[in-house]
Amino acid sequence: TKTTEEMVQRVIEIKEKFGDKLFIPGHHYQKNEVIQFSDVTGDSLQLAQVAAQNKKAEYIVFCGVHFMAETADMLTTDQQVVILPDMRAGCSMADMADIDQTERAWVKLQELYGETILPLTYVNSTAAIKAFVGKYGGATVTSSNAEKMLKWAFAQKERILFLPDQHLGRNTAYDLGIPLDKMAIWNPITNELEYQGNFEDVIVILWKGHCSVHENFTVANIEQLREKDPDVKIIVHPECSREVVSLSDDAGSTKYIIDQINAAPAGSKWAIGTEMNLVNRLIGQHPDKQIVSLNPSMCPCLTMNRIDLPHLLWTLENLENGVVQNQITVPLDIQENAVLALNRMLENV
Ligand code: 13P
Ligand code: SF4
Repeated sequence: TKTTEEMVQRVIEIKEKFGDKLFIPGHHYQKNEVIQFSDVTGDSLQLAQVAAQNKKAEYIVFCGVHFMAETADMLTTDQQVVILPDMRAGCSMADMADIDQTERAWVKLQELYGETILPLTYVNSTAAIKAFVGKYGGATVTSSNAEKMLKWAFAQKERILFLPDQHLGRNTAYDLGIPLDKMAIWNPITNELEYQGNFEDVIVILWKGHCSVHENFTVANIEQLREKDPDVKIIVHPECSREVVSLSDDAGSTKYIIDQINAAPAGSKWAIGTEMNLVNRLIGQHPDKQIVSLNPSMCPCLTMNRIDLPHLLWTLENLENGVVQNQITVPLDIQENAVLALNRMLENV
């Protein structure tokens, strides 16, 4: 086995050998040991855009999670090979919307609402869900364009089915002025609408999914922090619950959070409610600011963390030997409709 130093050297060597033919995008939640080798870092939207623009790379080694690599595969040419360094790097939220459950739900929602409903999906979803959404005229959204895309959707239909993150859906709809009592939950297990009033009053149907990382940020965390230091500014990701977002000072995508911290004055105090690797990186980059995690016991995204230096090196050494392992290929019939949903987003942002 190699020491860290040896692994670092090997990655540098192989990257030099491949030059432009190799491209390594890295999501902001990746570990530093991986991010140091990323050709570009970004949030989900930026990484999707970068993948769509890259025409040179033969191999795209995607340091992120499975749905991001699927998106990269769909937005690149057939000749470009997208690889995920560890197949276990999934997303528990994306797994909460299964295509069979979604089709089953759609049948019932058609009975209830007929032509008045349009599906939207957070990019944190499988390619099959994106294809479903694309087929029925809808689009994908990310945390940095959800508001814009919800407006886009409401310009066409009266109602929206929002998959699979109830929190991003609720937070965004609320910001657009939709009252909480006009939002219902779709329970994919019971295949029922969860709603107290008359179903006809519902405008937004939120799929009952969530992020297991962001649900760890709680109202109690905010109360404790504010009690200790009322001056601290709290910024969270919109995958956090409505209660947490409403008690925070600000909320936005990973890119938005980074931009706010970068622009903050020296000496300012921040508590950040998002994944641990990003929070730790910001703490390291801003010694002049007091930054803490909103949850003192910190929350890593375990699946993002599956991608580490040994897996990255393993992937690159395979490529050096002419071997492609862990290629992500979305079947063409799924791609066709999923790309419709992705393009409707990319054309709007
Ligand atoms: P963004 O990078 O779009 O903010 O998404 C966060 C996330 O949870 C990715 O899985
Ligand atoms: Fe999925 Fe949450 Fe991890 Fe993002 S942070 S990849 S939404 S589990």
